[in-house]
Amino acid sequence: MSNPSSNQMWGGRFAAGPDAIMEAINASIGFDKRLAAQDIAGSRAHAAMLAAQGIITDSDAEAIGKGLLAVLSEIEAGDFTFSTALEDIHMNVEARLKEMIGEPAGRLHTGRSRNDQVALDFRLWVRDQLNAAEHGLVTLIQACLGQAEAGADWVMPGFTHLQTAQPVTWGHHMMAYVEMFGRDLSRVRDARARMNESPLGAAALAGTGFNIDRHMTAEALGFDGPMANSLDAVSARDFALEFLSVASINAMHLSRFAEELVIWSSAQFRFVTLSDRFSTGSSIMPQKKNPDAAELIRAKIGRIFGANVALMMVMKGLPLAYSKDMQEDKEQVFDAADNWLLALAAMEGMVRDMSANVPALEAAAASGFSTATDLADWLVRETGLPFRDAHHVTGALVALAEKTGRDLPELTLEEMQAEHGAITSGIFDVLGVHNSVASRTSYGGTAPVRVREQVARWKEILG
Ligand code: ARG
Repeated sequence: MSNPSSNQMWGGRFAAGPDAIMEAINASIGFDKRLAAQDIAGSRAHAAMLAAQGIITDSDAEAIGKGLLAVLSEIEAGDFTFSTALEDIHMNVEARLKEMIGEPAGRLHTGRSRNDQVALDFRLWVRDQLNAAEHGLVTLIQACLGQAEAGADWVMPGFTHLQTAQPVTWGHHMMAYVEMFGRDLSRVRDARARMNESPLGAAALAGTGFNIDRHMTAEALGFDGPMANSLDAVSARDFALEFLSVASINAMHLSRFAEELVIWSSAQFRFVTLSDRFSTGSSIMPQKKNPDAAELIRAKIGRIFGANVALMMVMKGLPLAYSKDMQEDKEQVFDAADNWLLALAAMEGMVRDMSANVPALEAAAASGFSTATDLADWLVRETGLPFRDAHHVTGALVALAEKTGRDLPELTLEEMQAEHGAITSGIFDVLGVHNSVASRTSYGGTAPVRVREQVARWKEILG
């Protein structure tokens, strides 16, 4: 009999229990209890397979299966007492199973190890998060499509360097995010397809001599098949890294959109009004309505990409196969996943609820000489001037307008003709912002007709 204070799972070799500090640094139960449902699903599939292969009896498998469901109910009801001495979720569940059903519990761990067990649980958990992120992205894209459809022909300034560049349509701007989020969606789906292989049955690292059926457990758990190399199966965490990099790229996109909403909702821009449901007030300045959700979404990239870097550093240089370093994978991924899904949901709500200030958008679009390029293009088209010369003539007209405090359409025909004799009154047609955007009909351009086509295409894609 081993020392009663040593661990019941490996006490045979140990004369003394761990130091309190050892227990504290070693235990993962404080966070990996989030894997309880996945752990129990994996164990149930494993036990059923062991019985089907004649490795344990049907009655033992039945007792294990029922017992595991009882453990799960306790955990879900909040009645389960997690023990740090039992280190992690795997040993907490198994120990409770033993208390409940006795001896058969000891047969569950046949032909597997905690190394393939944790790899499995974590993979199942990340797969669930990818599914949730897919849903969050689809809903967000739909919110953007709603805005794009409503404002396919609302005109706003398009910027480069955050300086007024050319008029664009609100719908076109919204559809730019639809494209980004659409690529994020396809990255989520790719990551899930790549990670959907089961590590269960790799055992500690080398496979097992028991006649297990890894295809059966893989299928039962919704995988496409078992991972082909047992060393890889227990060592691989690239599925989690891919999850974090997909999340990081999307969080980066979200931060750009969030930043625009912060700018647009300012008193200086007044492009949008965010709904009260997604804004906060100030405790001291009664006039304020703050875009806190947008600011927090803008910041989430920090912790999400931080998690990506942290896990990359944890995994870097680790020899095969399992090393305890890998226990440091979970908290980063849990935190990143929680914050990613929250940011997606908050962005969806904000976008769905926000209202564009159409007159302010249009006024801003018309200011800042935003149709100067249209003027130059007109000179090329109508007078045959080379573009570089047209650019020069236009520059002189912009300088005149600026000096006299006017916008381009406010210059007189005589003033224009003084710069270039071939200019006719037809020029005024292209100086208006609506004509400007309507003329940009090249594929992918900002013209309302093109925007509506893209909205229709995306609606079809999303079904
Ligand atoms: N708690 C461990 C983890 O999260 C489970 C695997 C432990 N395996 C081992 N050989 N100590 O990684």
